[in-house]
Amino acid sequence: MIHFHILTLFPEMVMQGLHTSILKRAVEKEAIAIEAVNIRDYTLDKHGKVDDYTYGGGAGMLMQAQPVYDACKAVEQRIASAQPENPGGEGSCRVIYVTPQGRTFHQAMAQELAREKHLIFLCGHYEGIDERVLEELVTDYVSIGDYVLTGGELPAMVMIDAIARLVPGVLHNHESAATESFSDDLLEYPQYSRPEIWQGRRVPDILLSGNHGEIERWRLEQSLERTKKLRPELYEKWAREHEEYFRKKEKREARERKKQNKQKKAEK
Ligand code: ADE
Repeated sequence: MIHFHILTLFPEMVMQGLHTSILKRAVEKEAIAIEAVNIRDYTLDKHGKVDDYTYGGGAGMLMQAQPVYDACKAVEQRIASAQPENPGGEGSCRVIYVTPQGRTFHQAMAQELAREKHLIFLCGHYEGIDERVLEELVTDYVSIGDYVLTGGELPAMVMIDAIARLVPGVLHNHESAATESFSDDLLEYPQYSRPEIWQGRRVPDILLSGNHGEIERWRLEQSLERTKKLRPELYEKWAREHEEYFRKKEKREARERKKQNKQKKAEK
């Protein structure tokens, strides 16, 4: 069970986005829990203000330290009081600030984060958040890519989706996280469903053969071909880490060539 806590000015946005389809089912099954905490609920400003102009001038408004700090501390305290057996609870939970200045999110990071019990995501808006509160709270600065969005909500949702599907019980067996793109640093092989012929295009014969060993081998070869073409850097990494695969493949192909030559000779 992993608990996602999202600190945001737009709680409806994240709750709506994350309570759909597979993640909705996961919440209902209590494989994951998701809560959105409205930072505005924690402001001490009597007009509900959470942002102000930046010192030194410049365009736009900045989210102020106080409401962000109090919202985060309230979540940390709740987490700590829910686990009295863990006195170091407060402060031990990772606080992820989603920002284009962070490390770029990737599958291995999702796998690592999926092992946590609680994750706090801090979503900025406007021009960002007062640096002092970031220094005080944040353990991880993470970006979802080299482009700038209007706020941290979509990046937090992207990350939560990628992490949640790795949590045991979230996916059904047939949706398994183990066999697809990136689970082994390779892109996924092509897949086909009914009908066998669509607009004159046939499903590859091997997939209709019923030979599971051959099908597995074909799929791996397709994955490798695709990765080599589309993501050569991933392919190179895989090749370096799987030298044994290429040695075995070479031996197999040599055996097949020998067999074919023998057959040809016998036919003459
Ligand atoms: N906030 C705005 N743009 C972002 C991005 N690319 N990644 C993470 N957080 C962001």
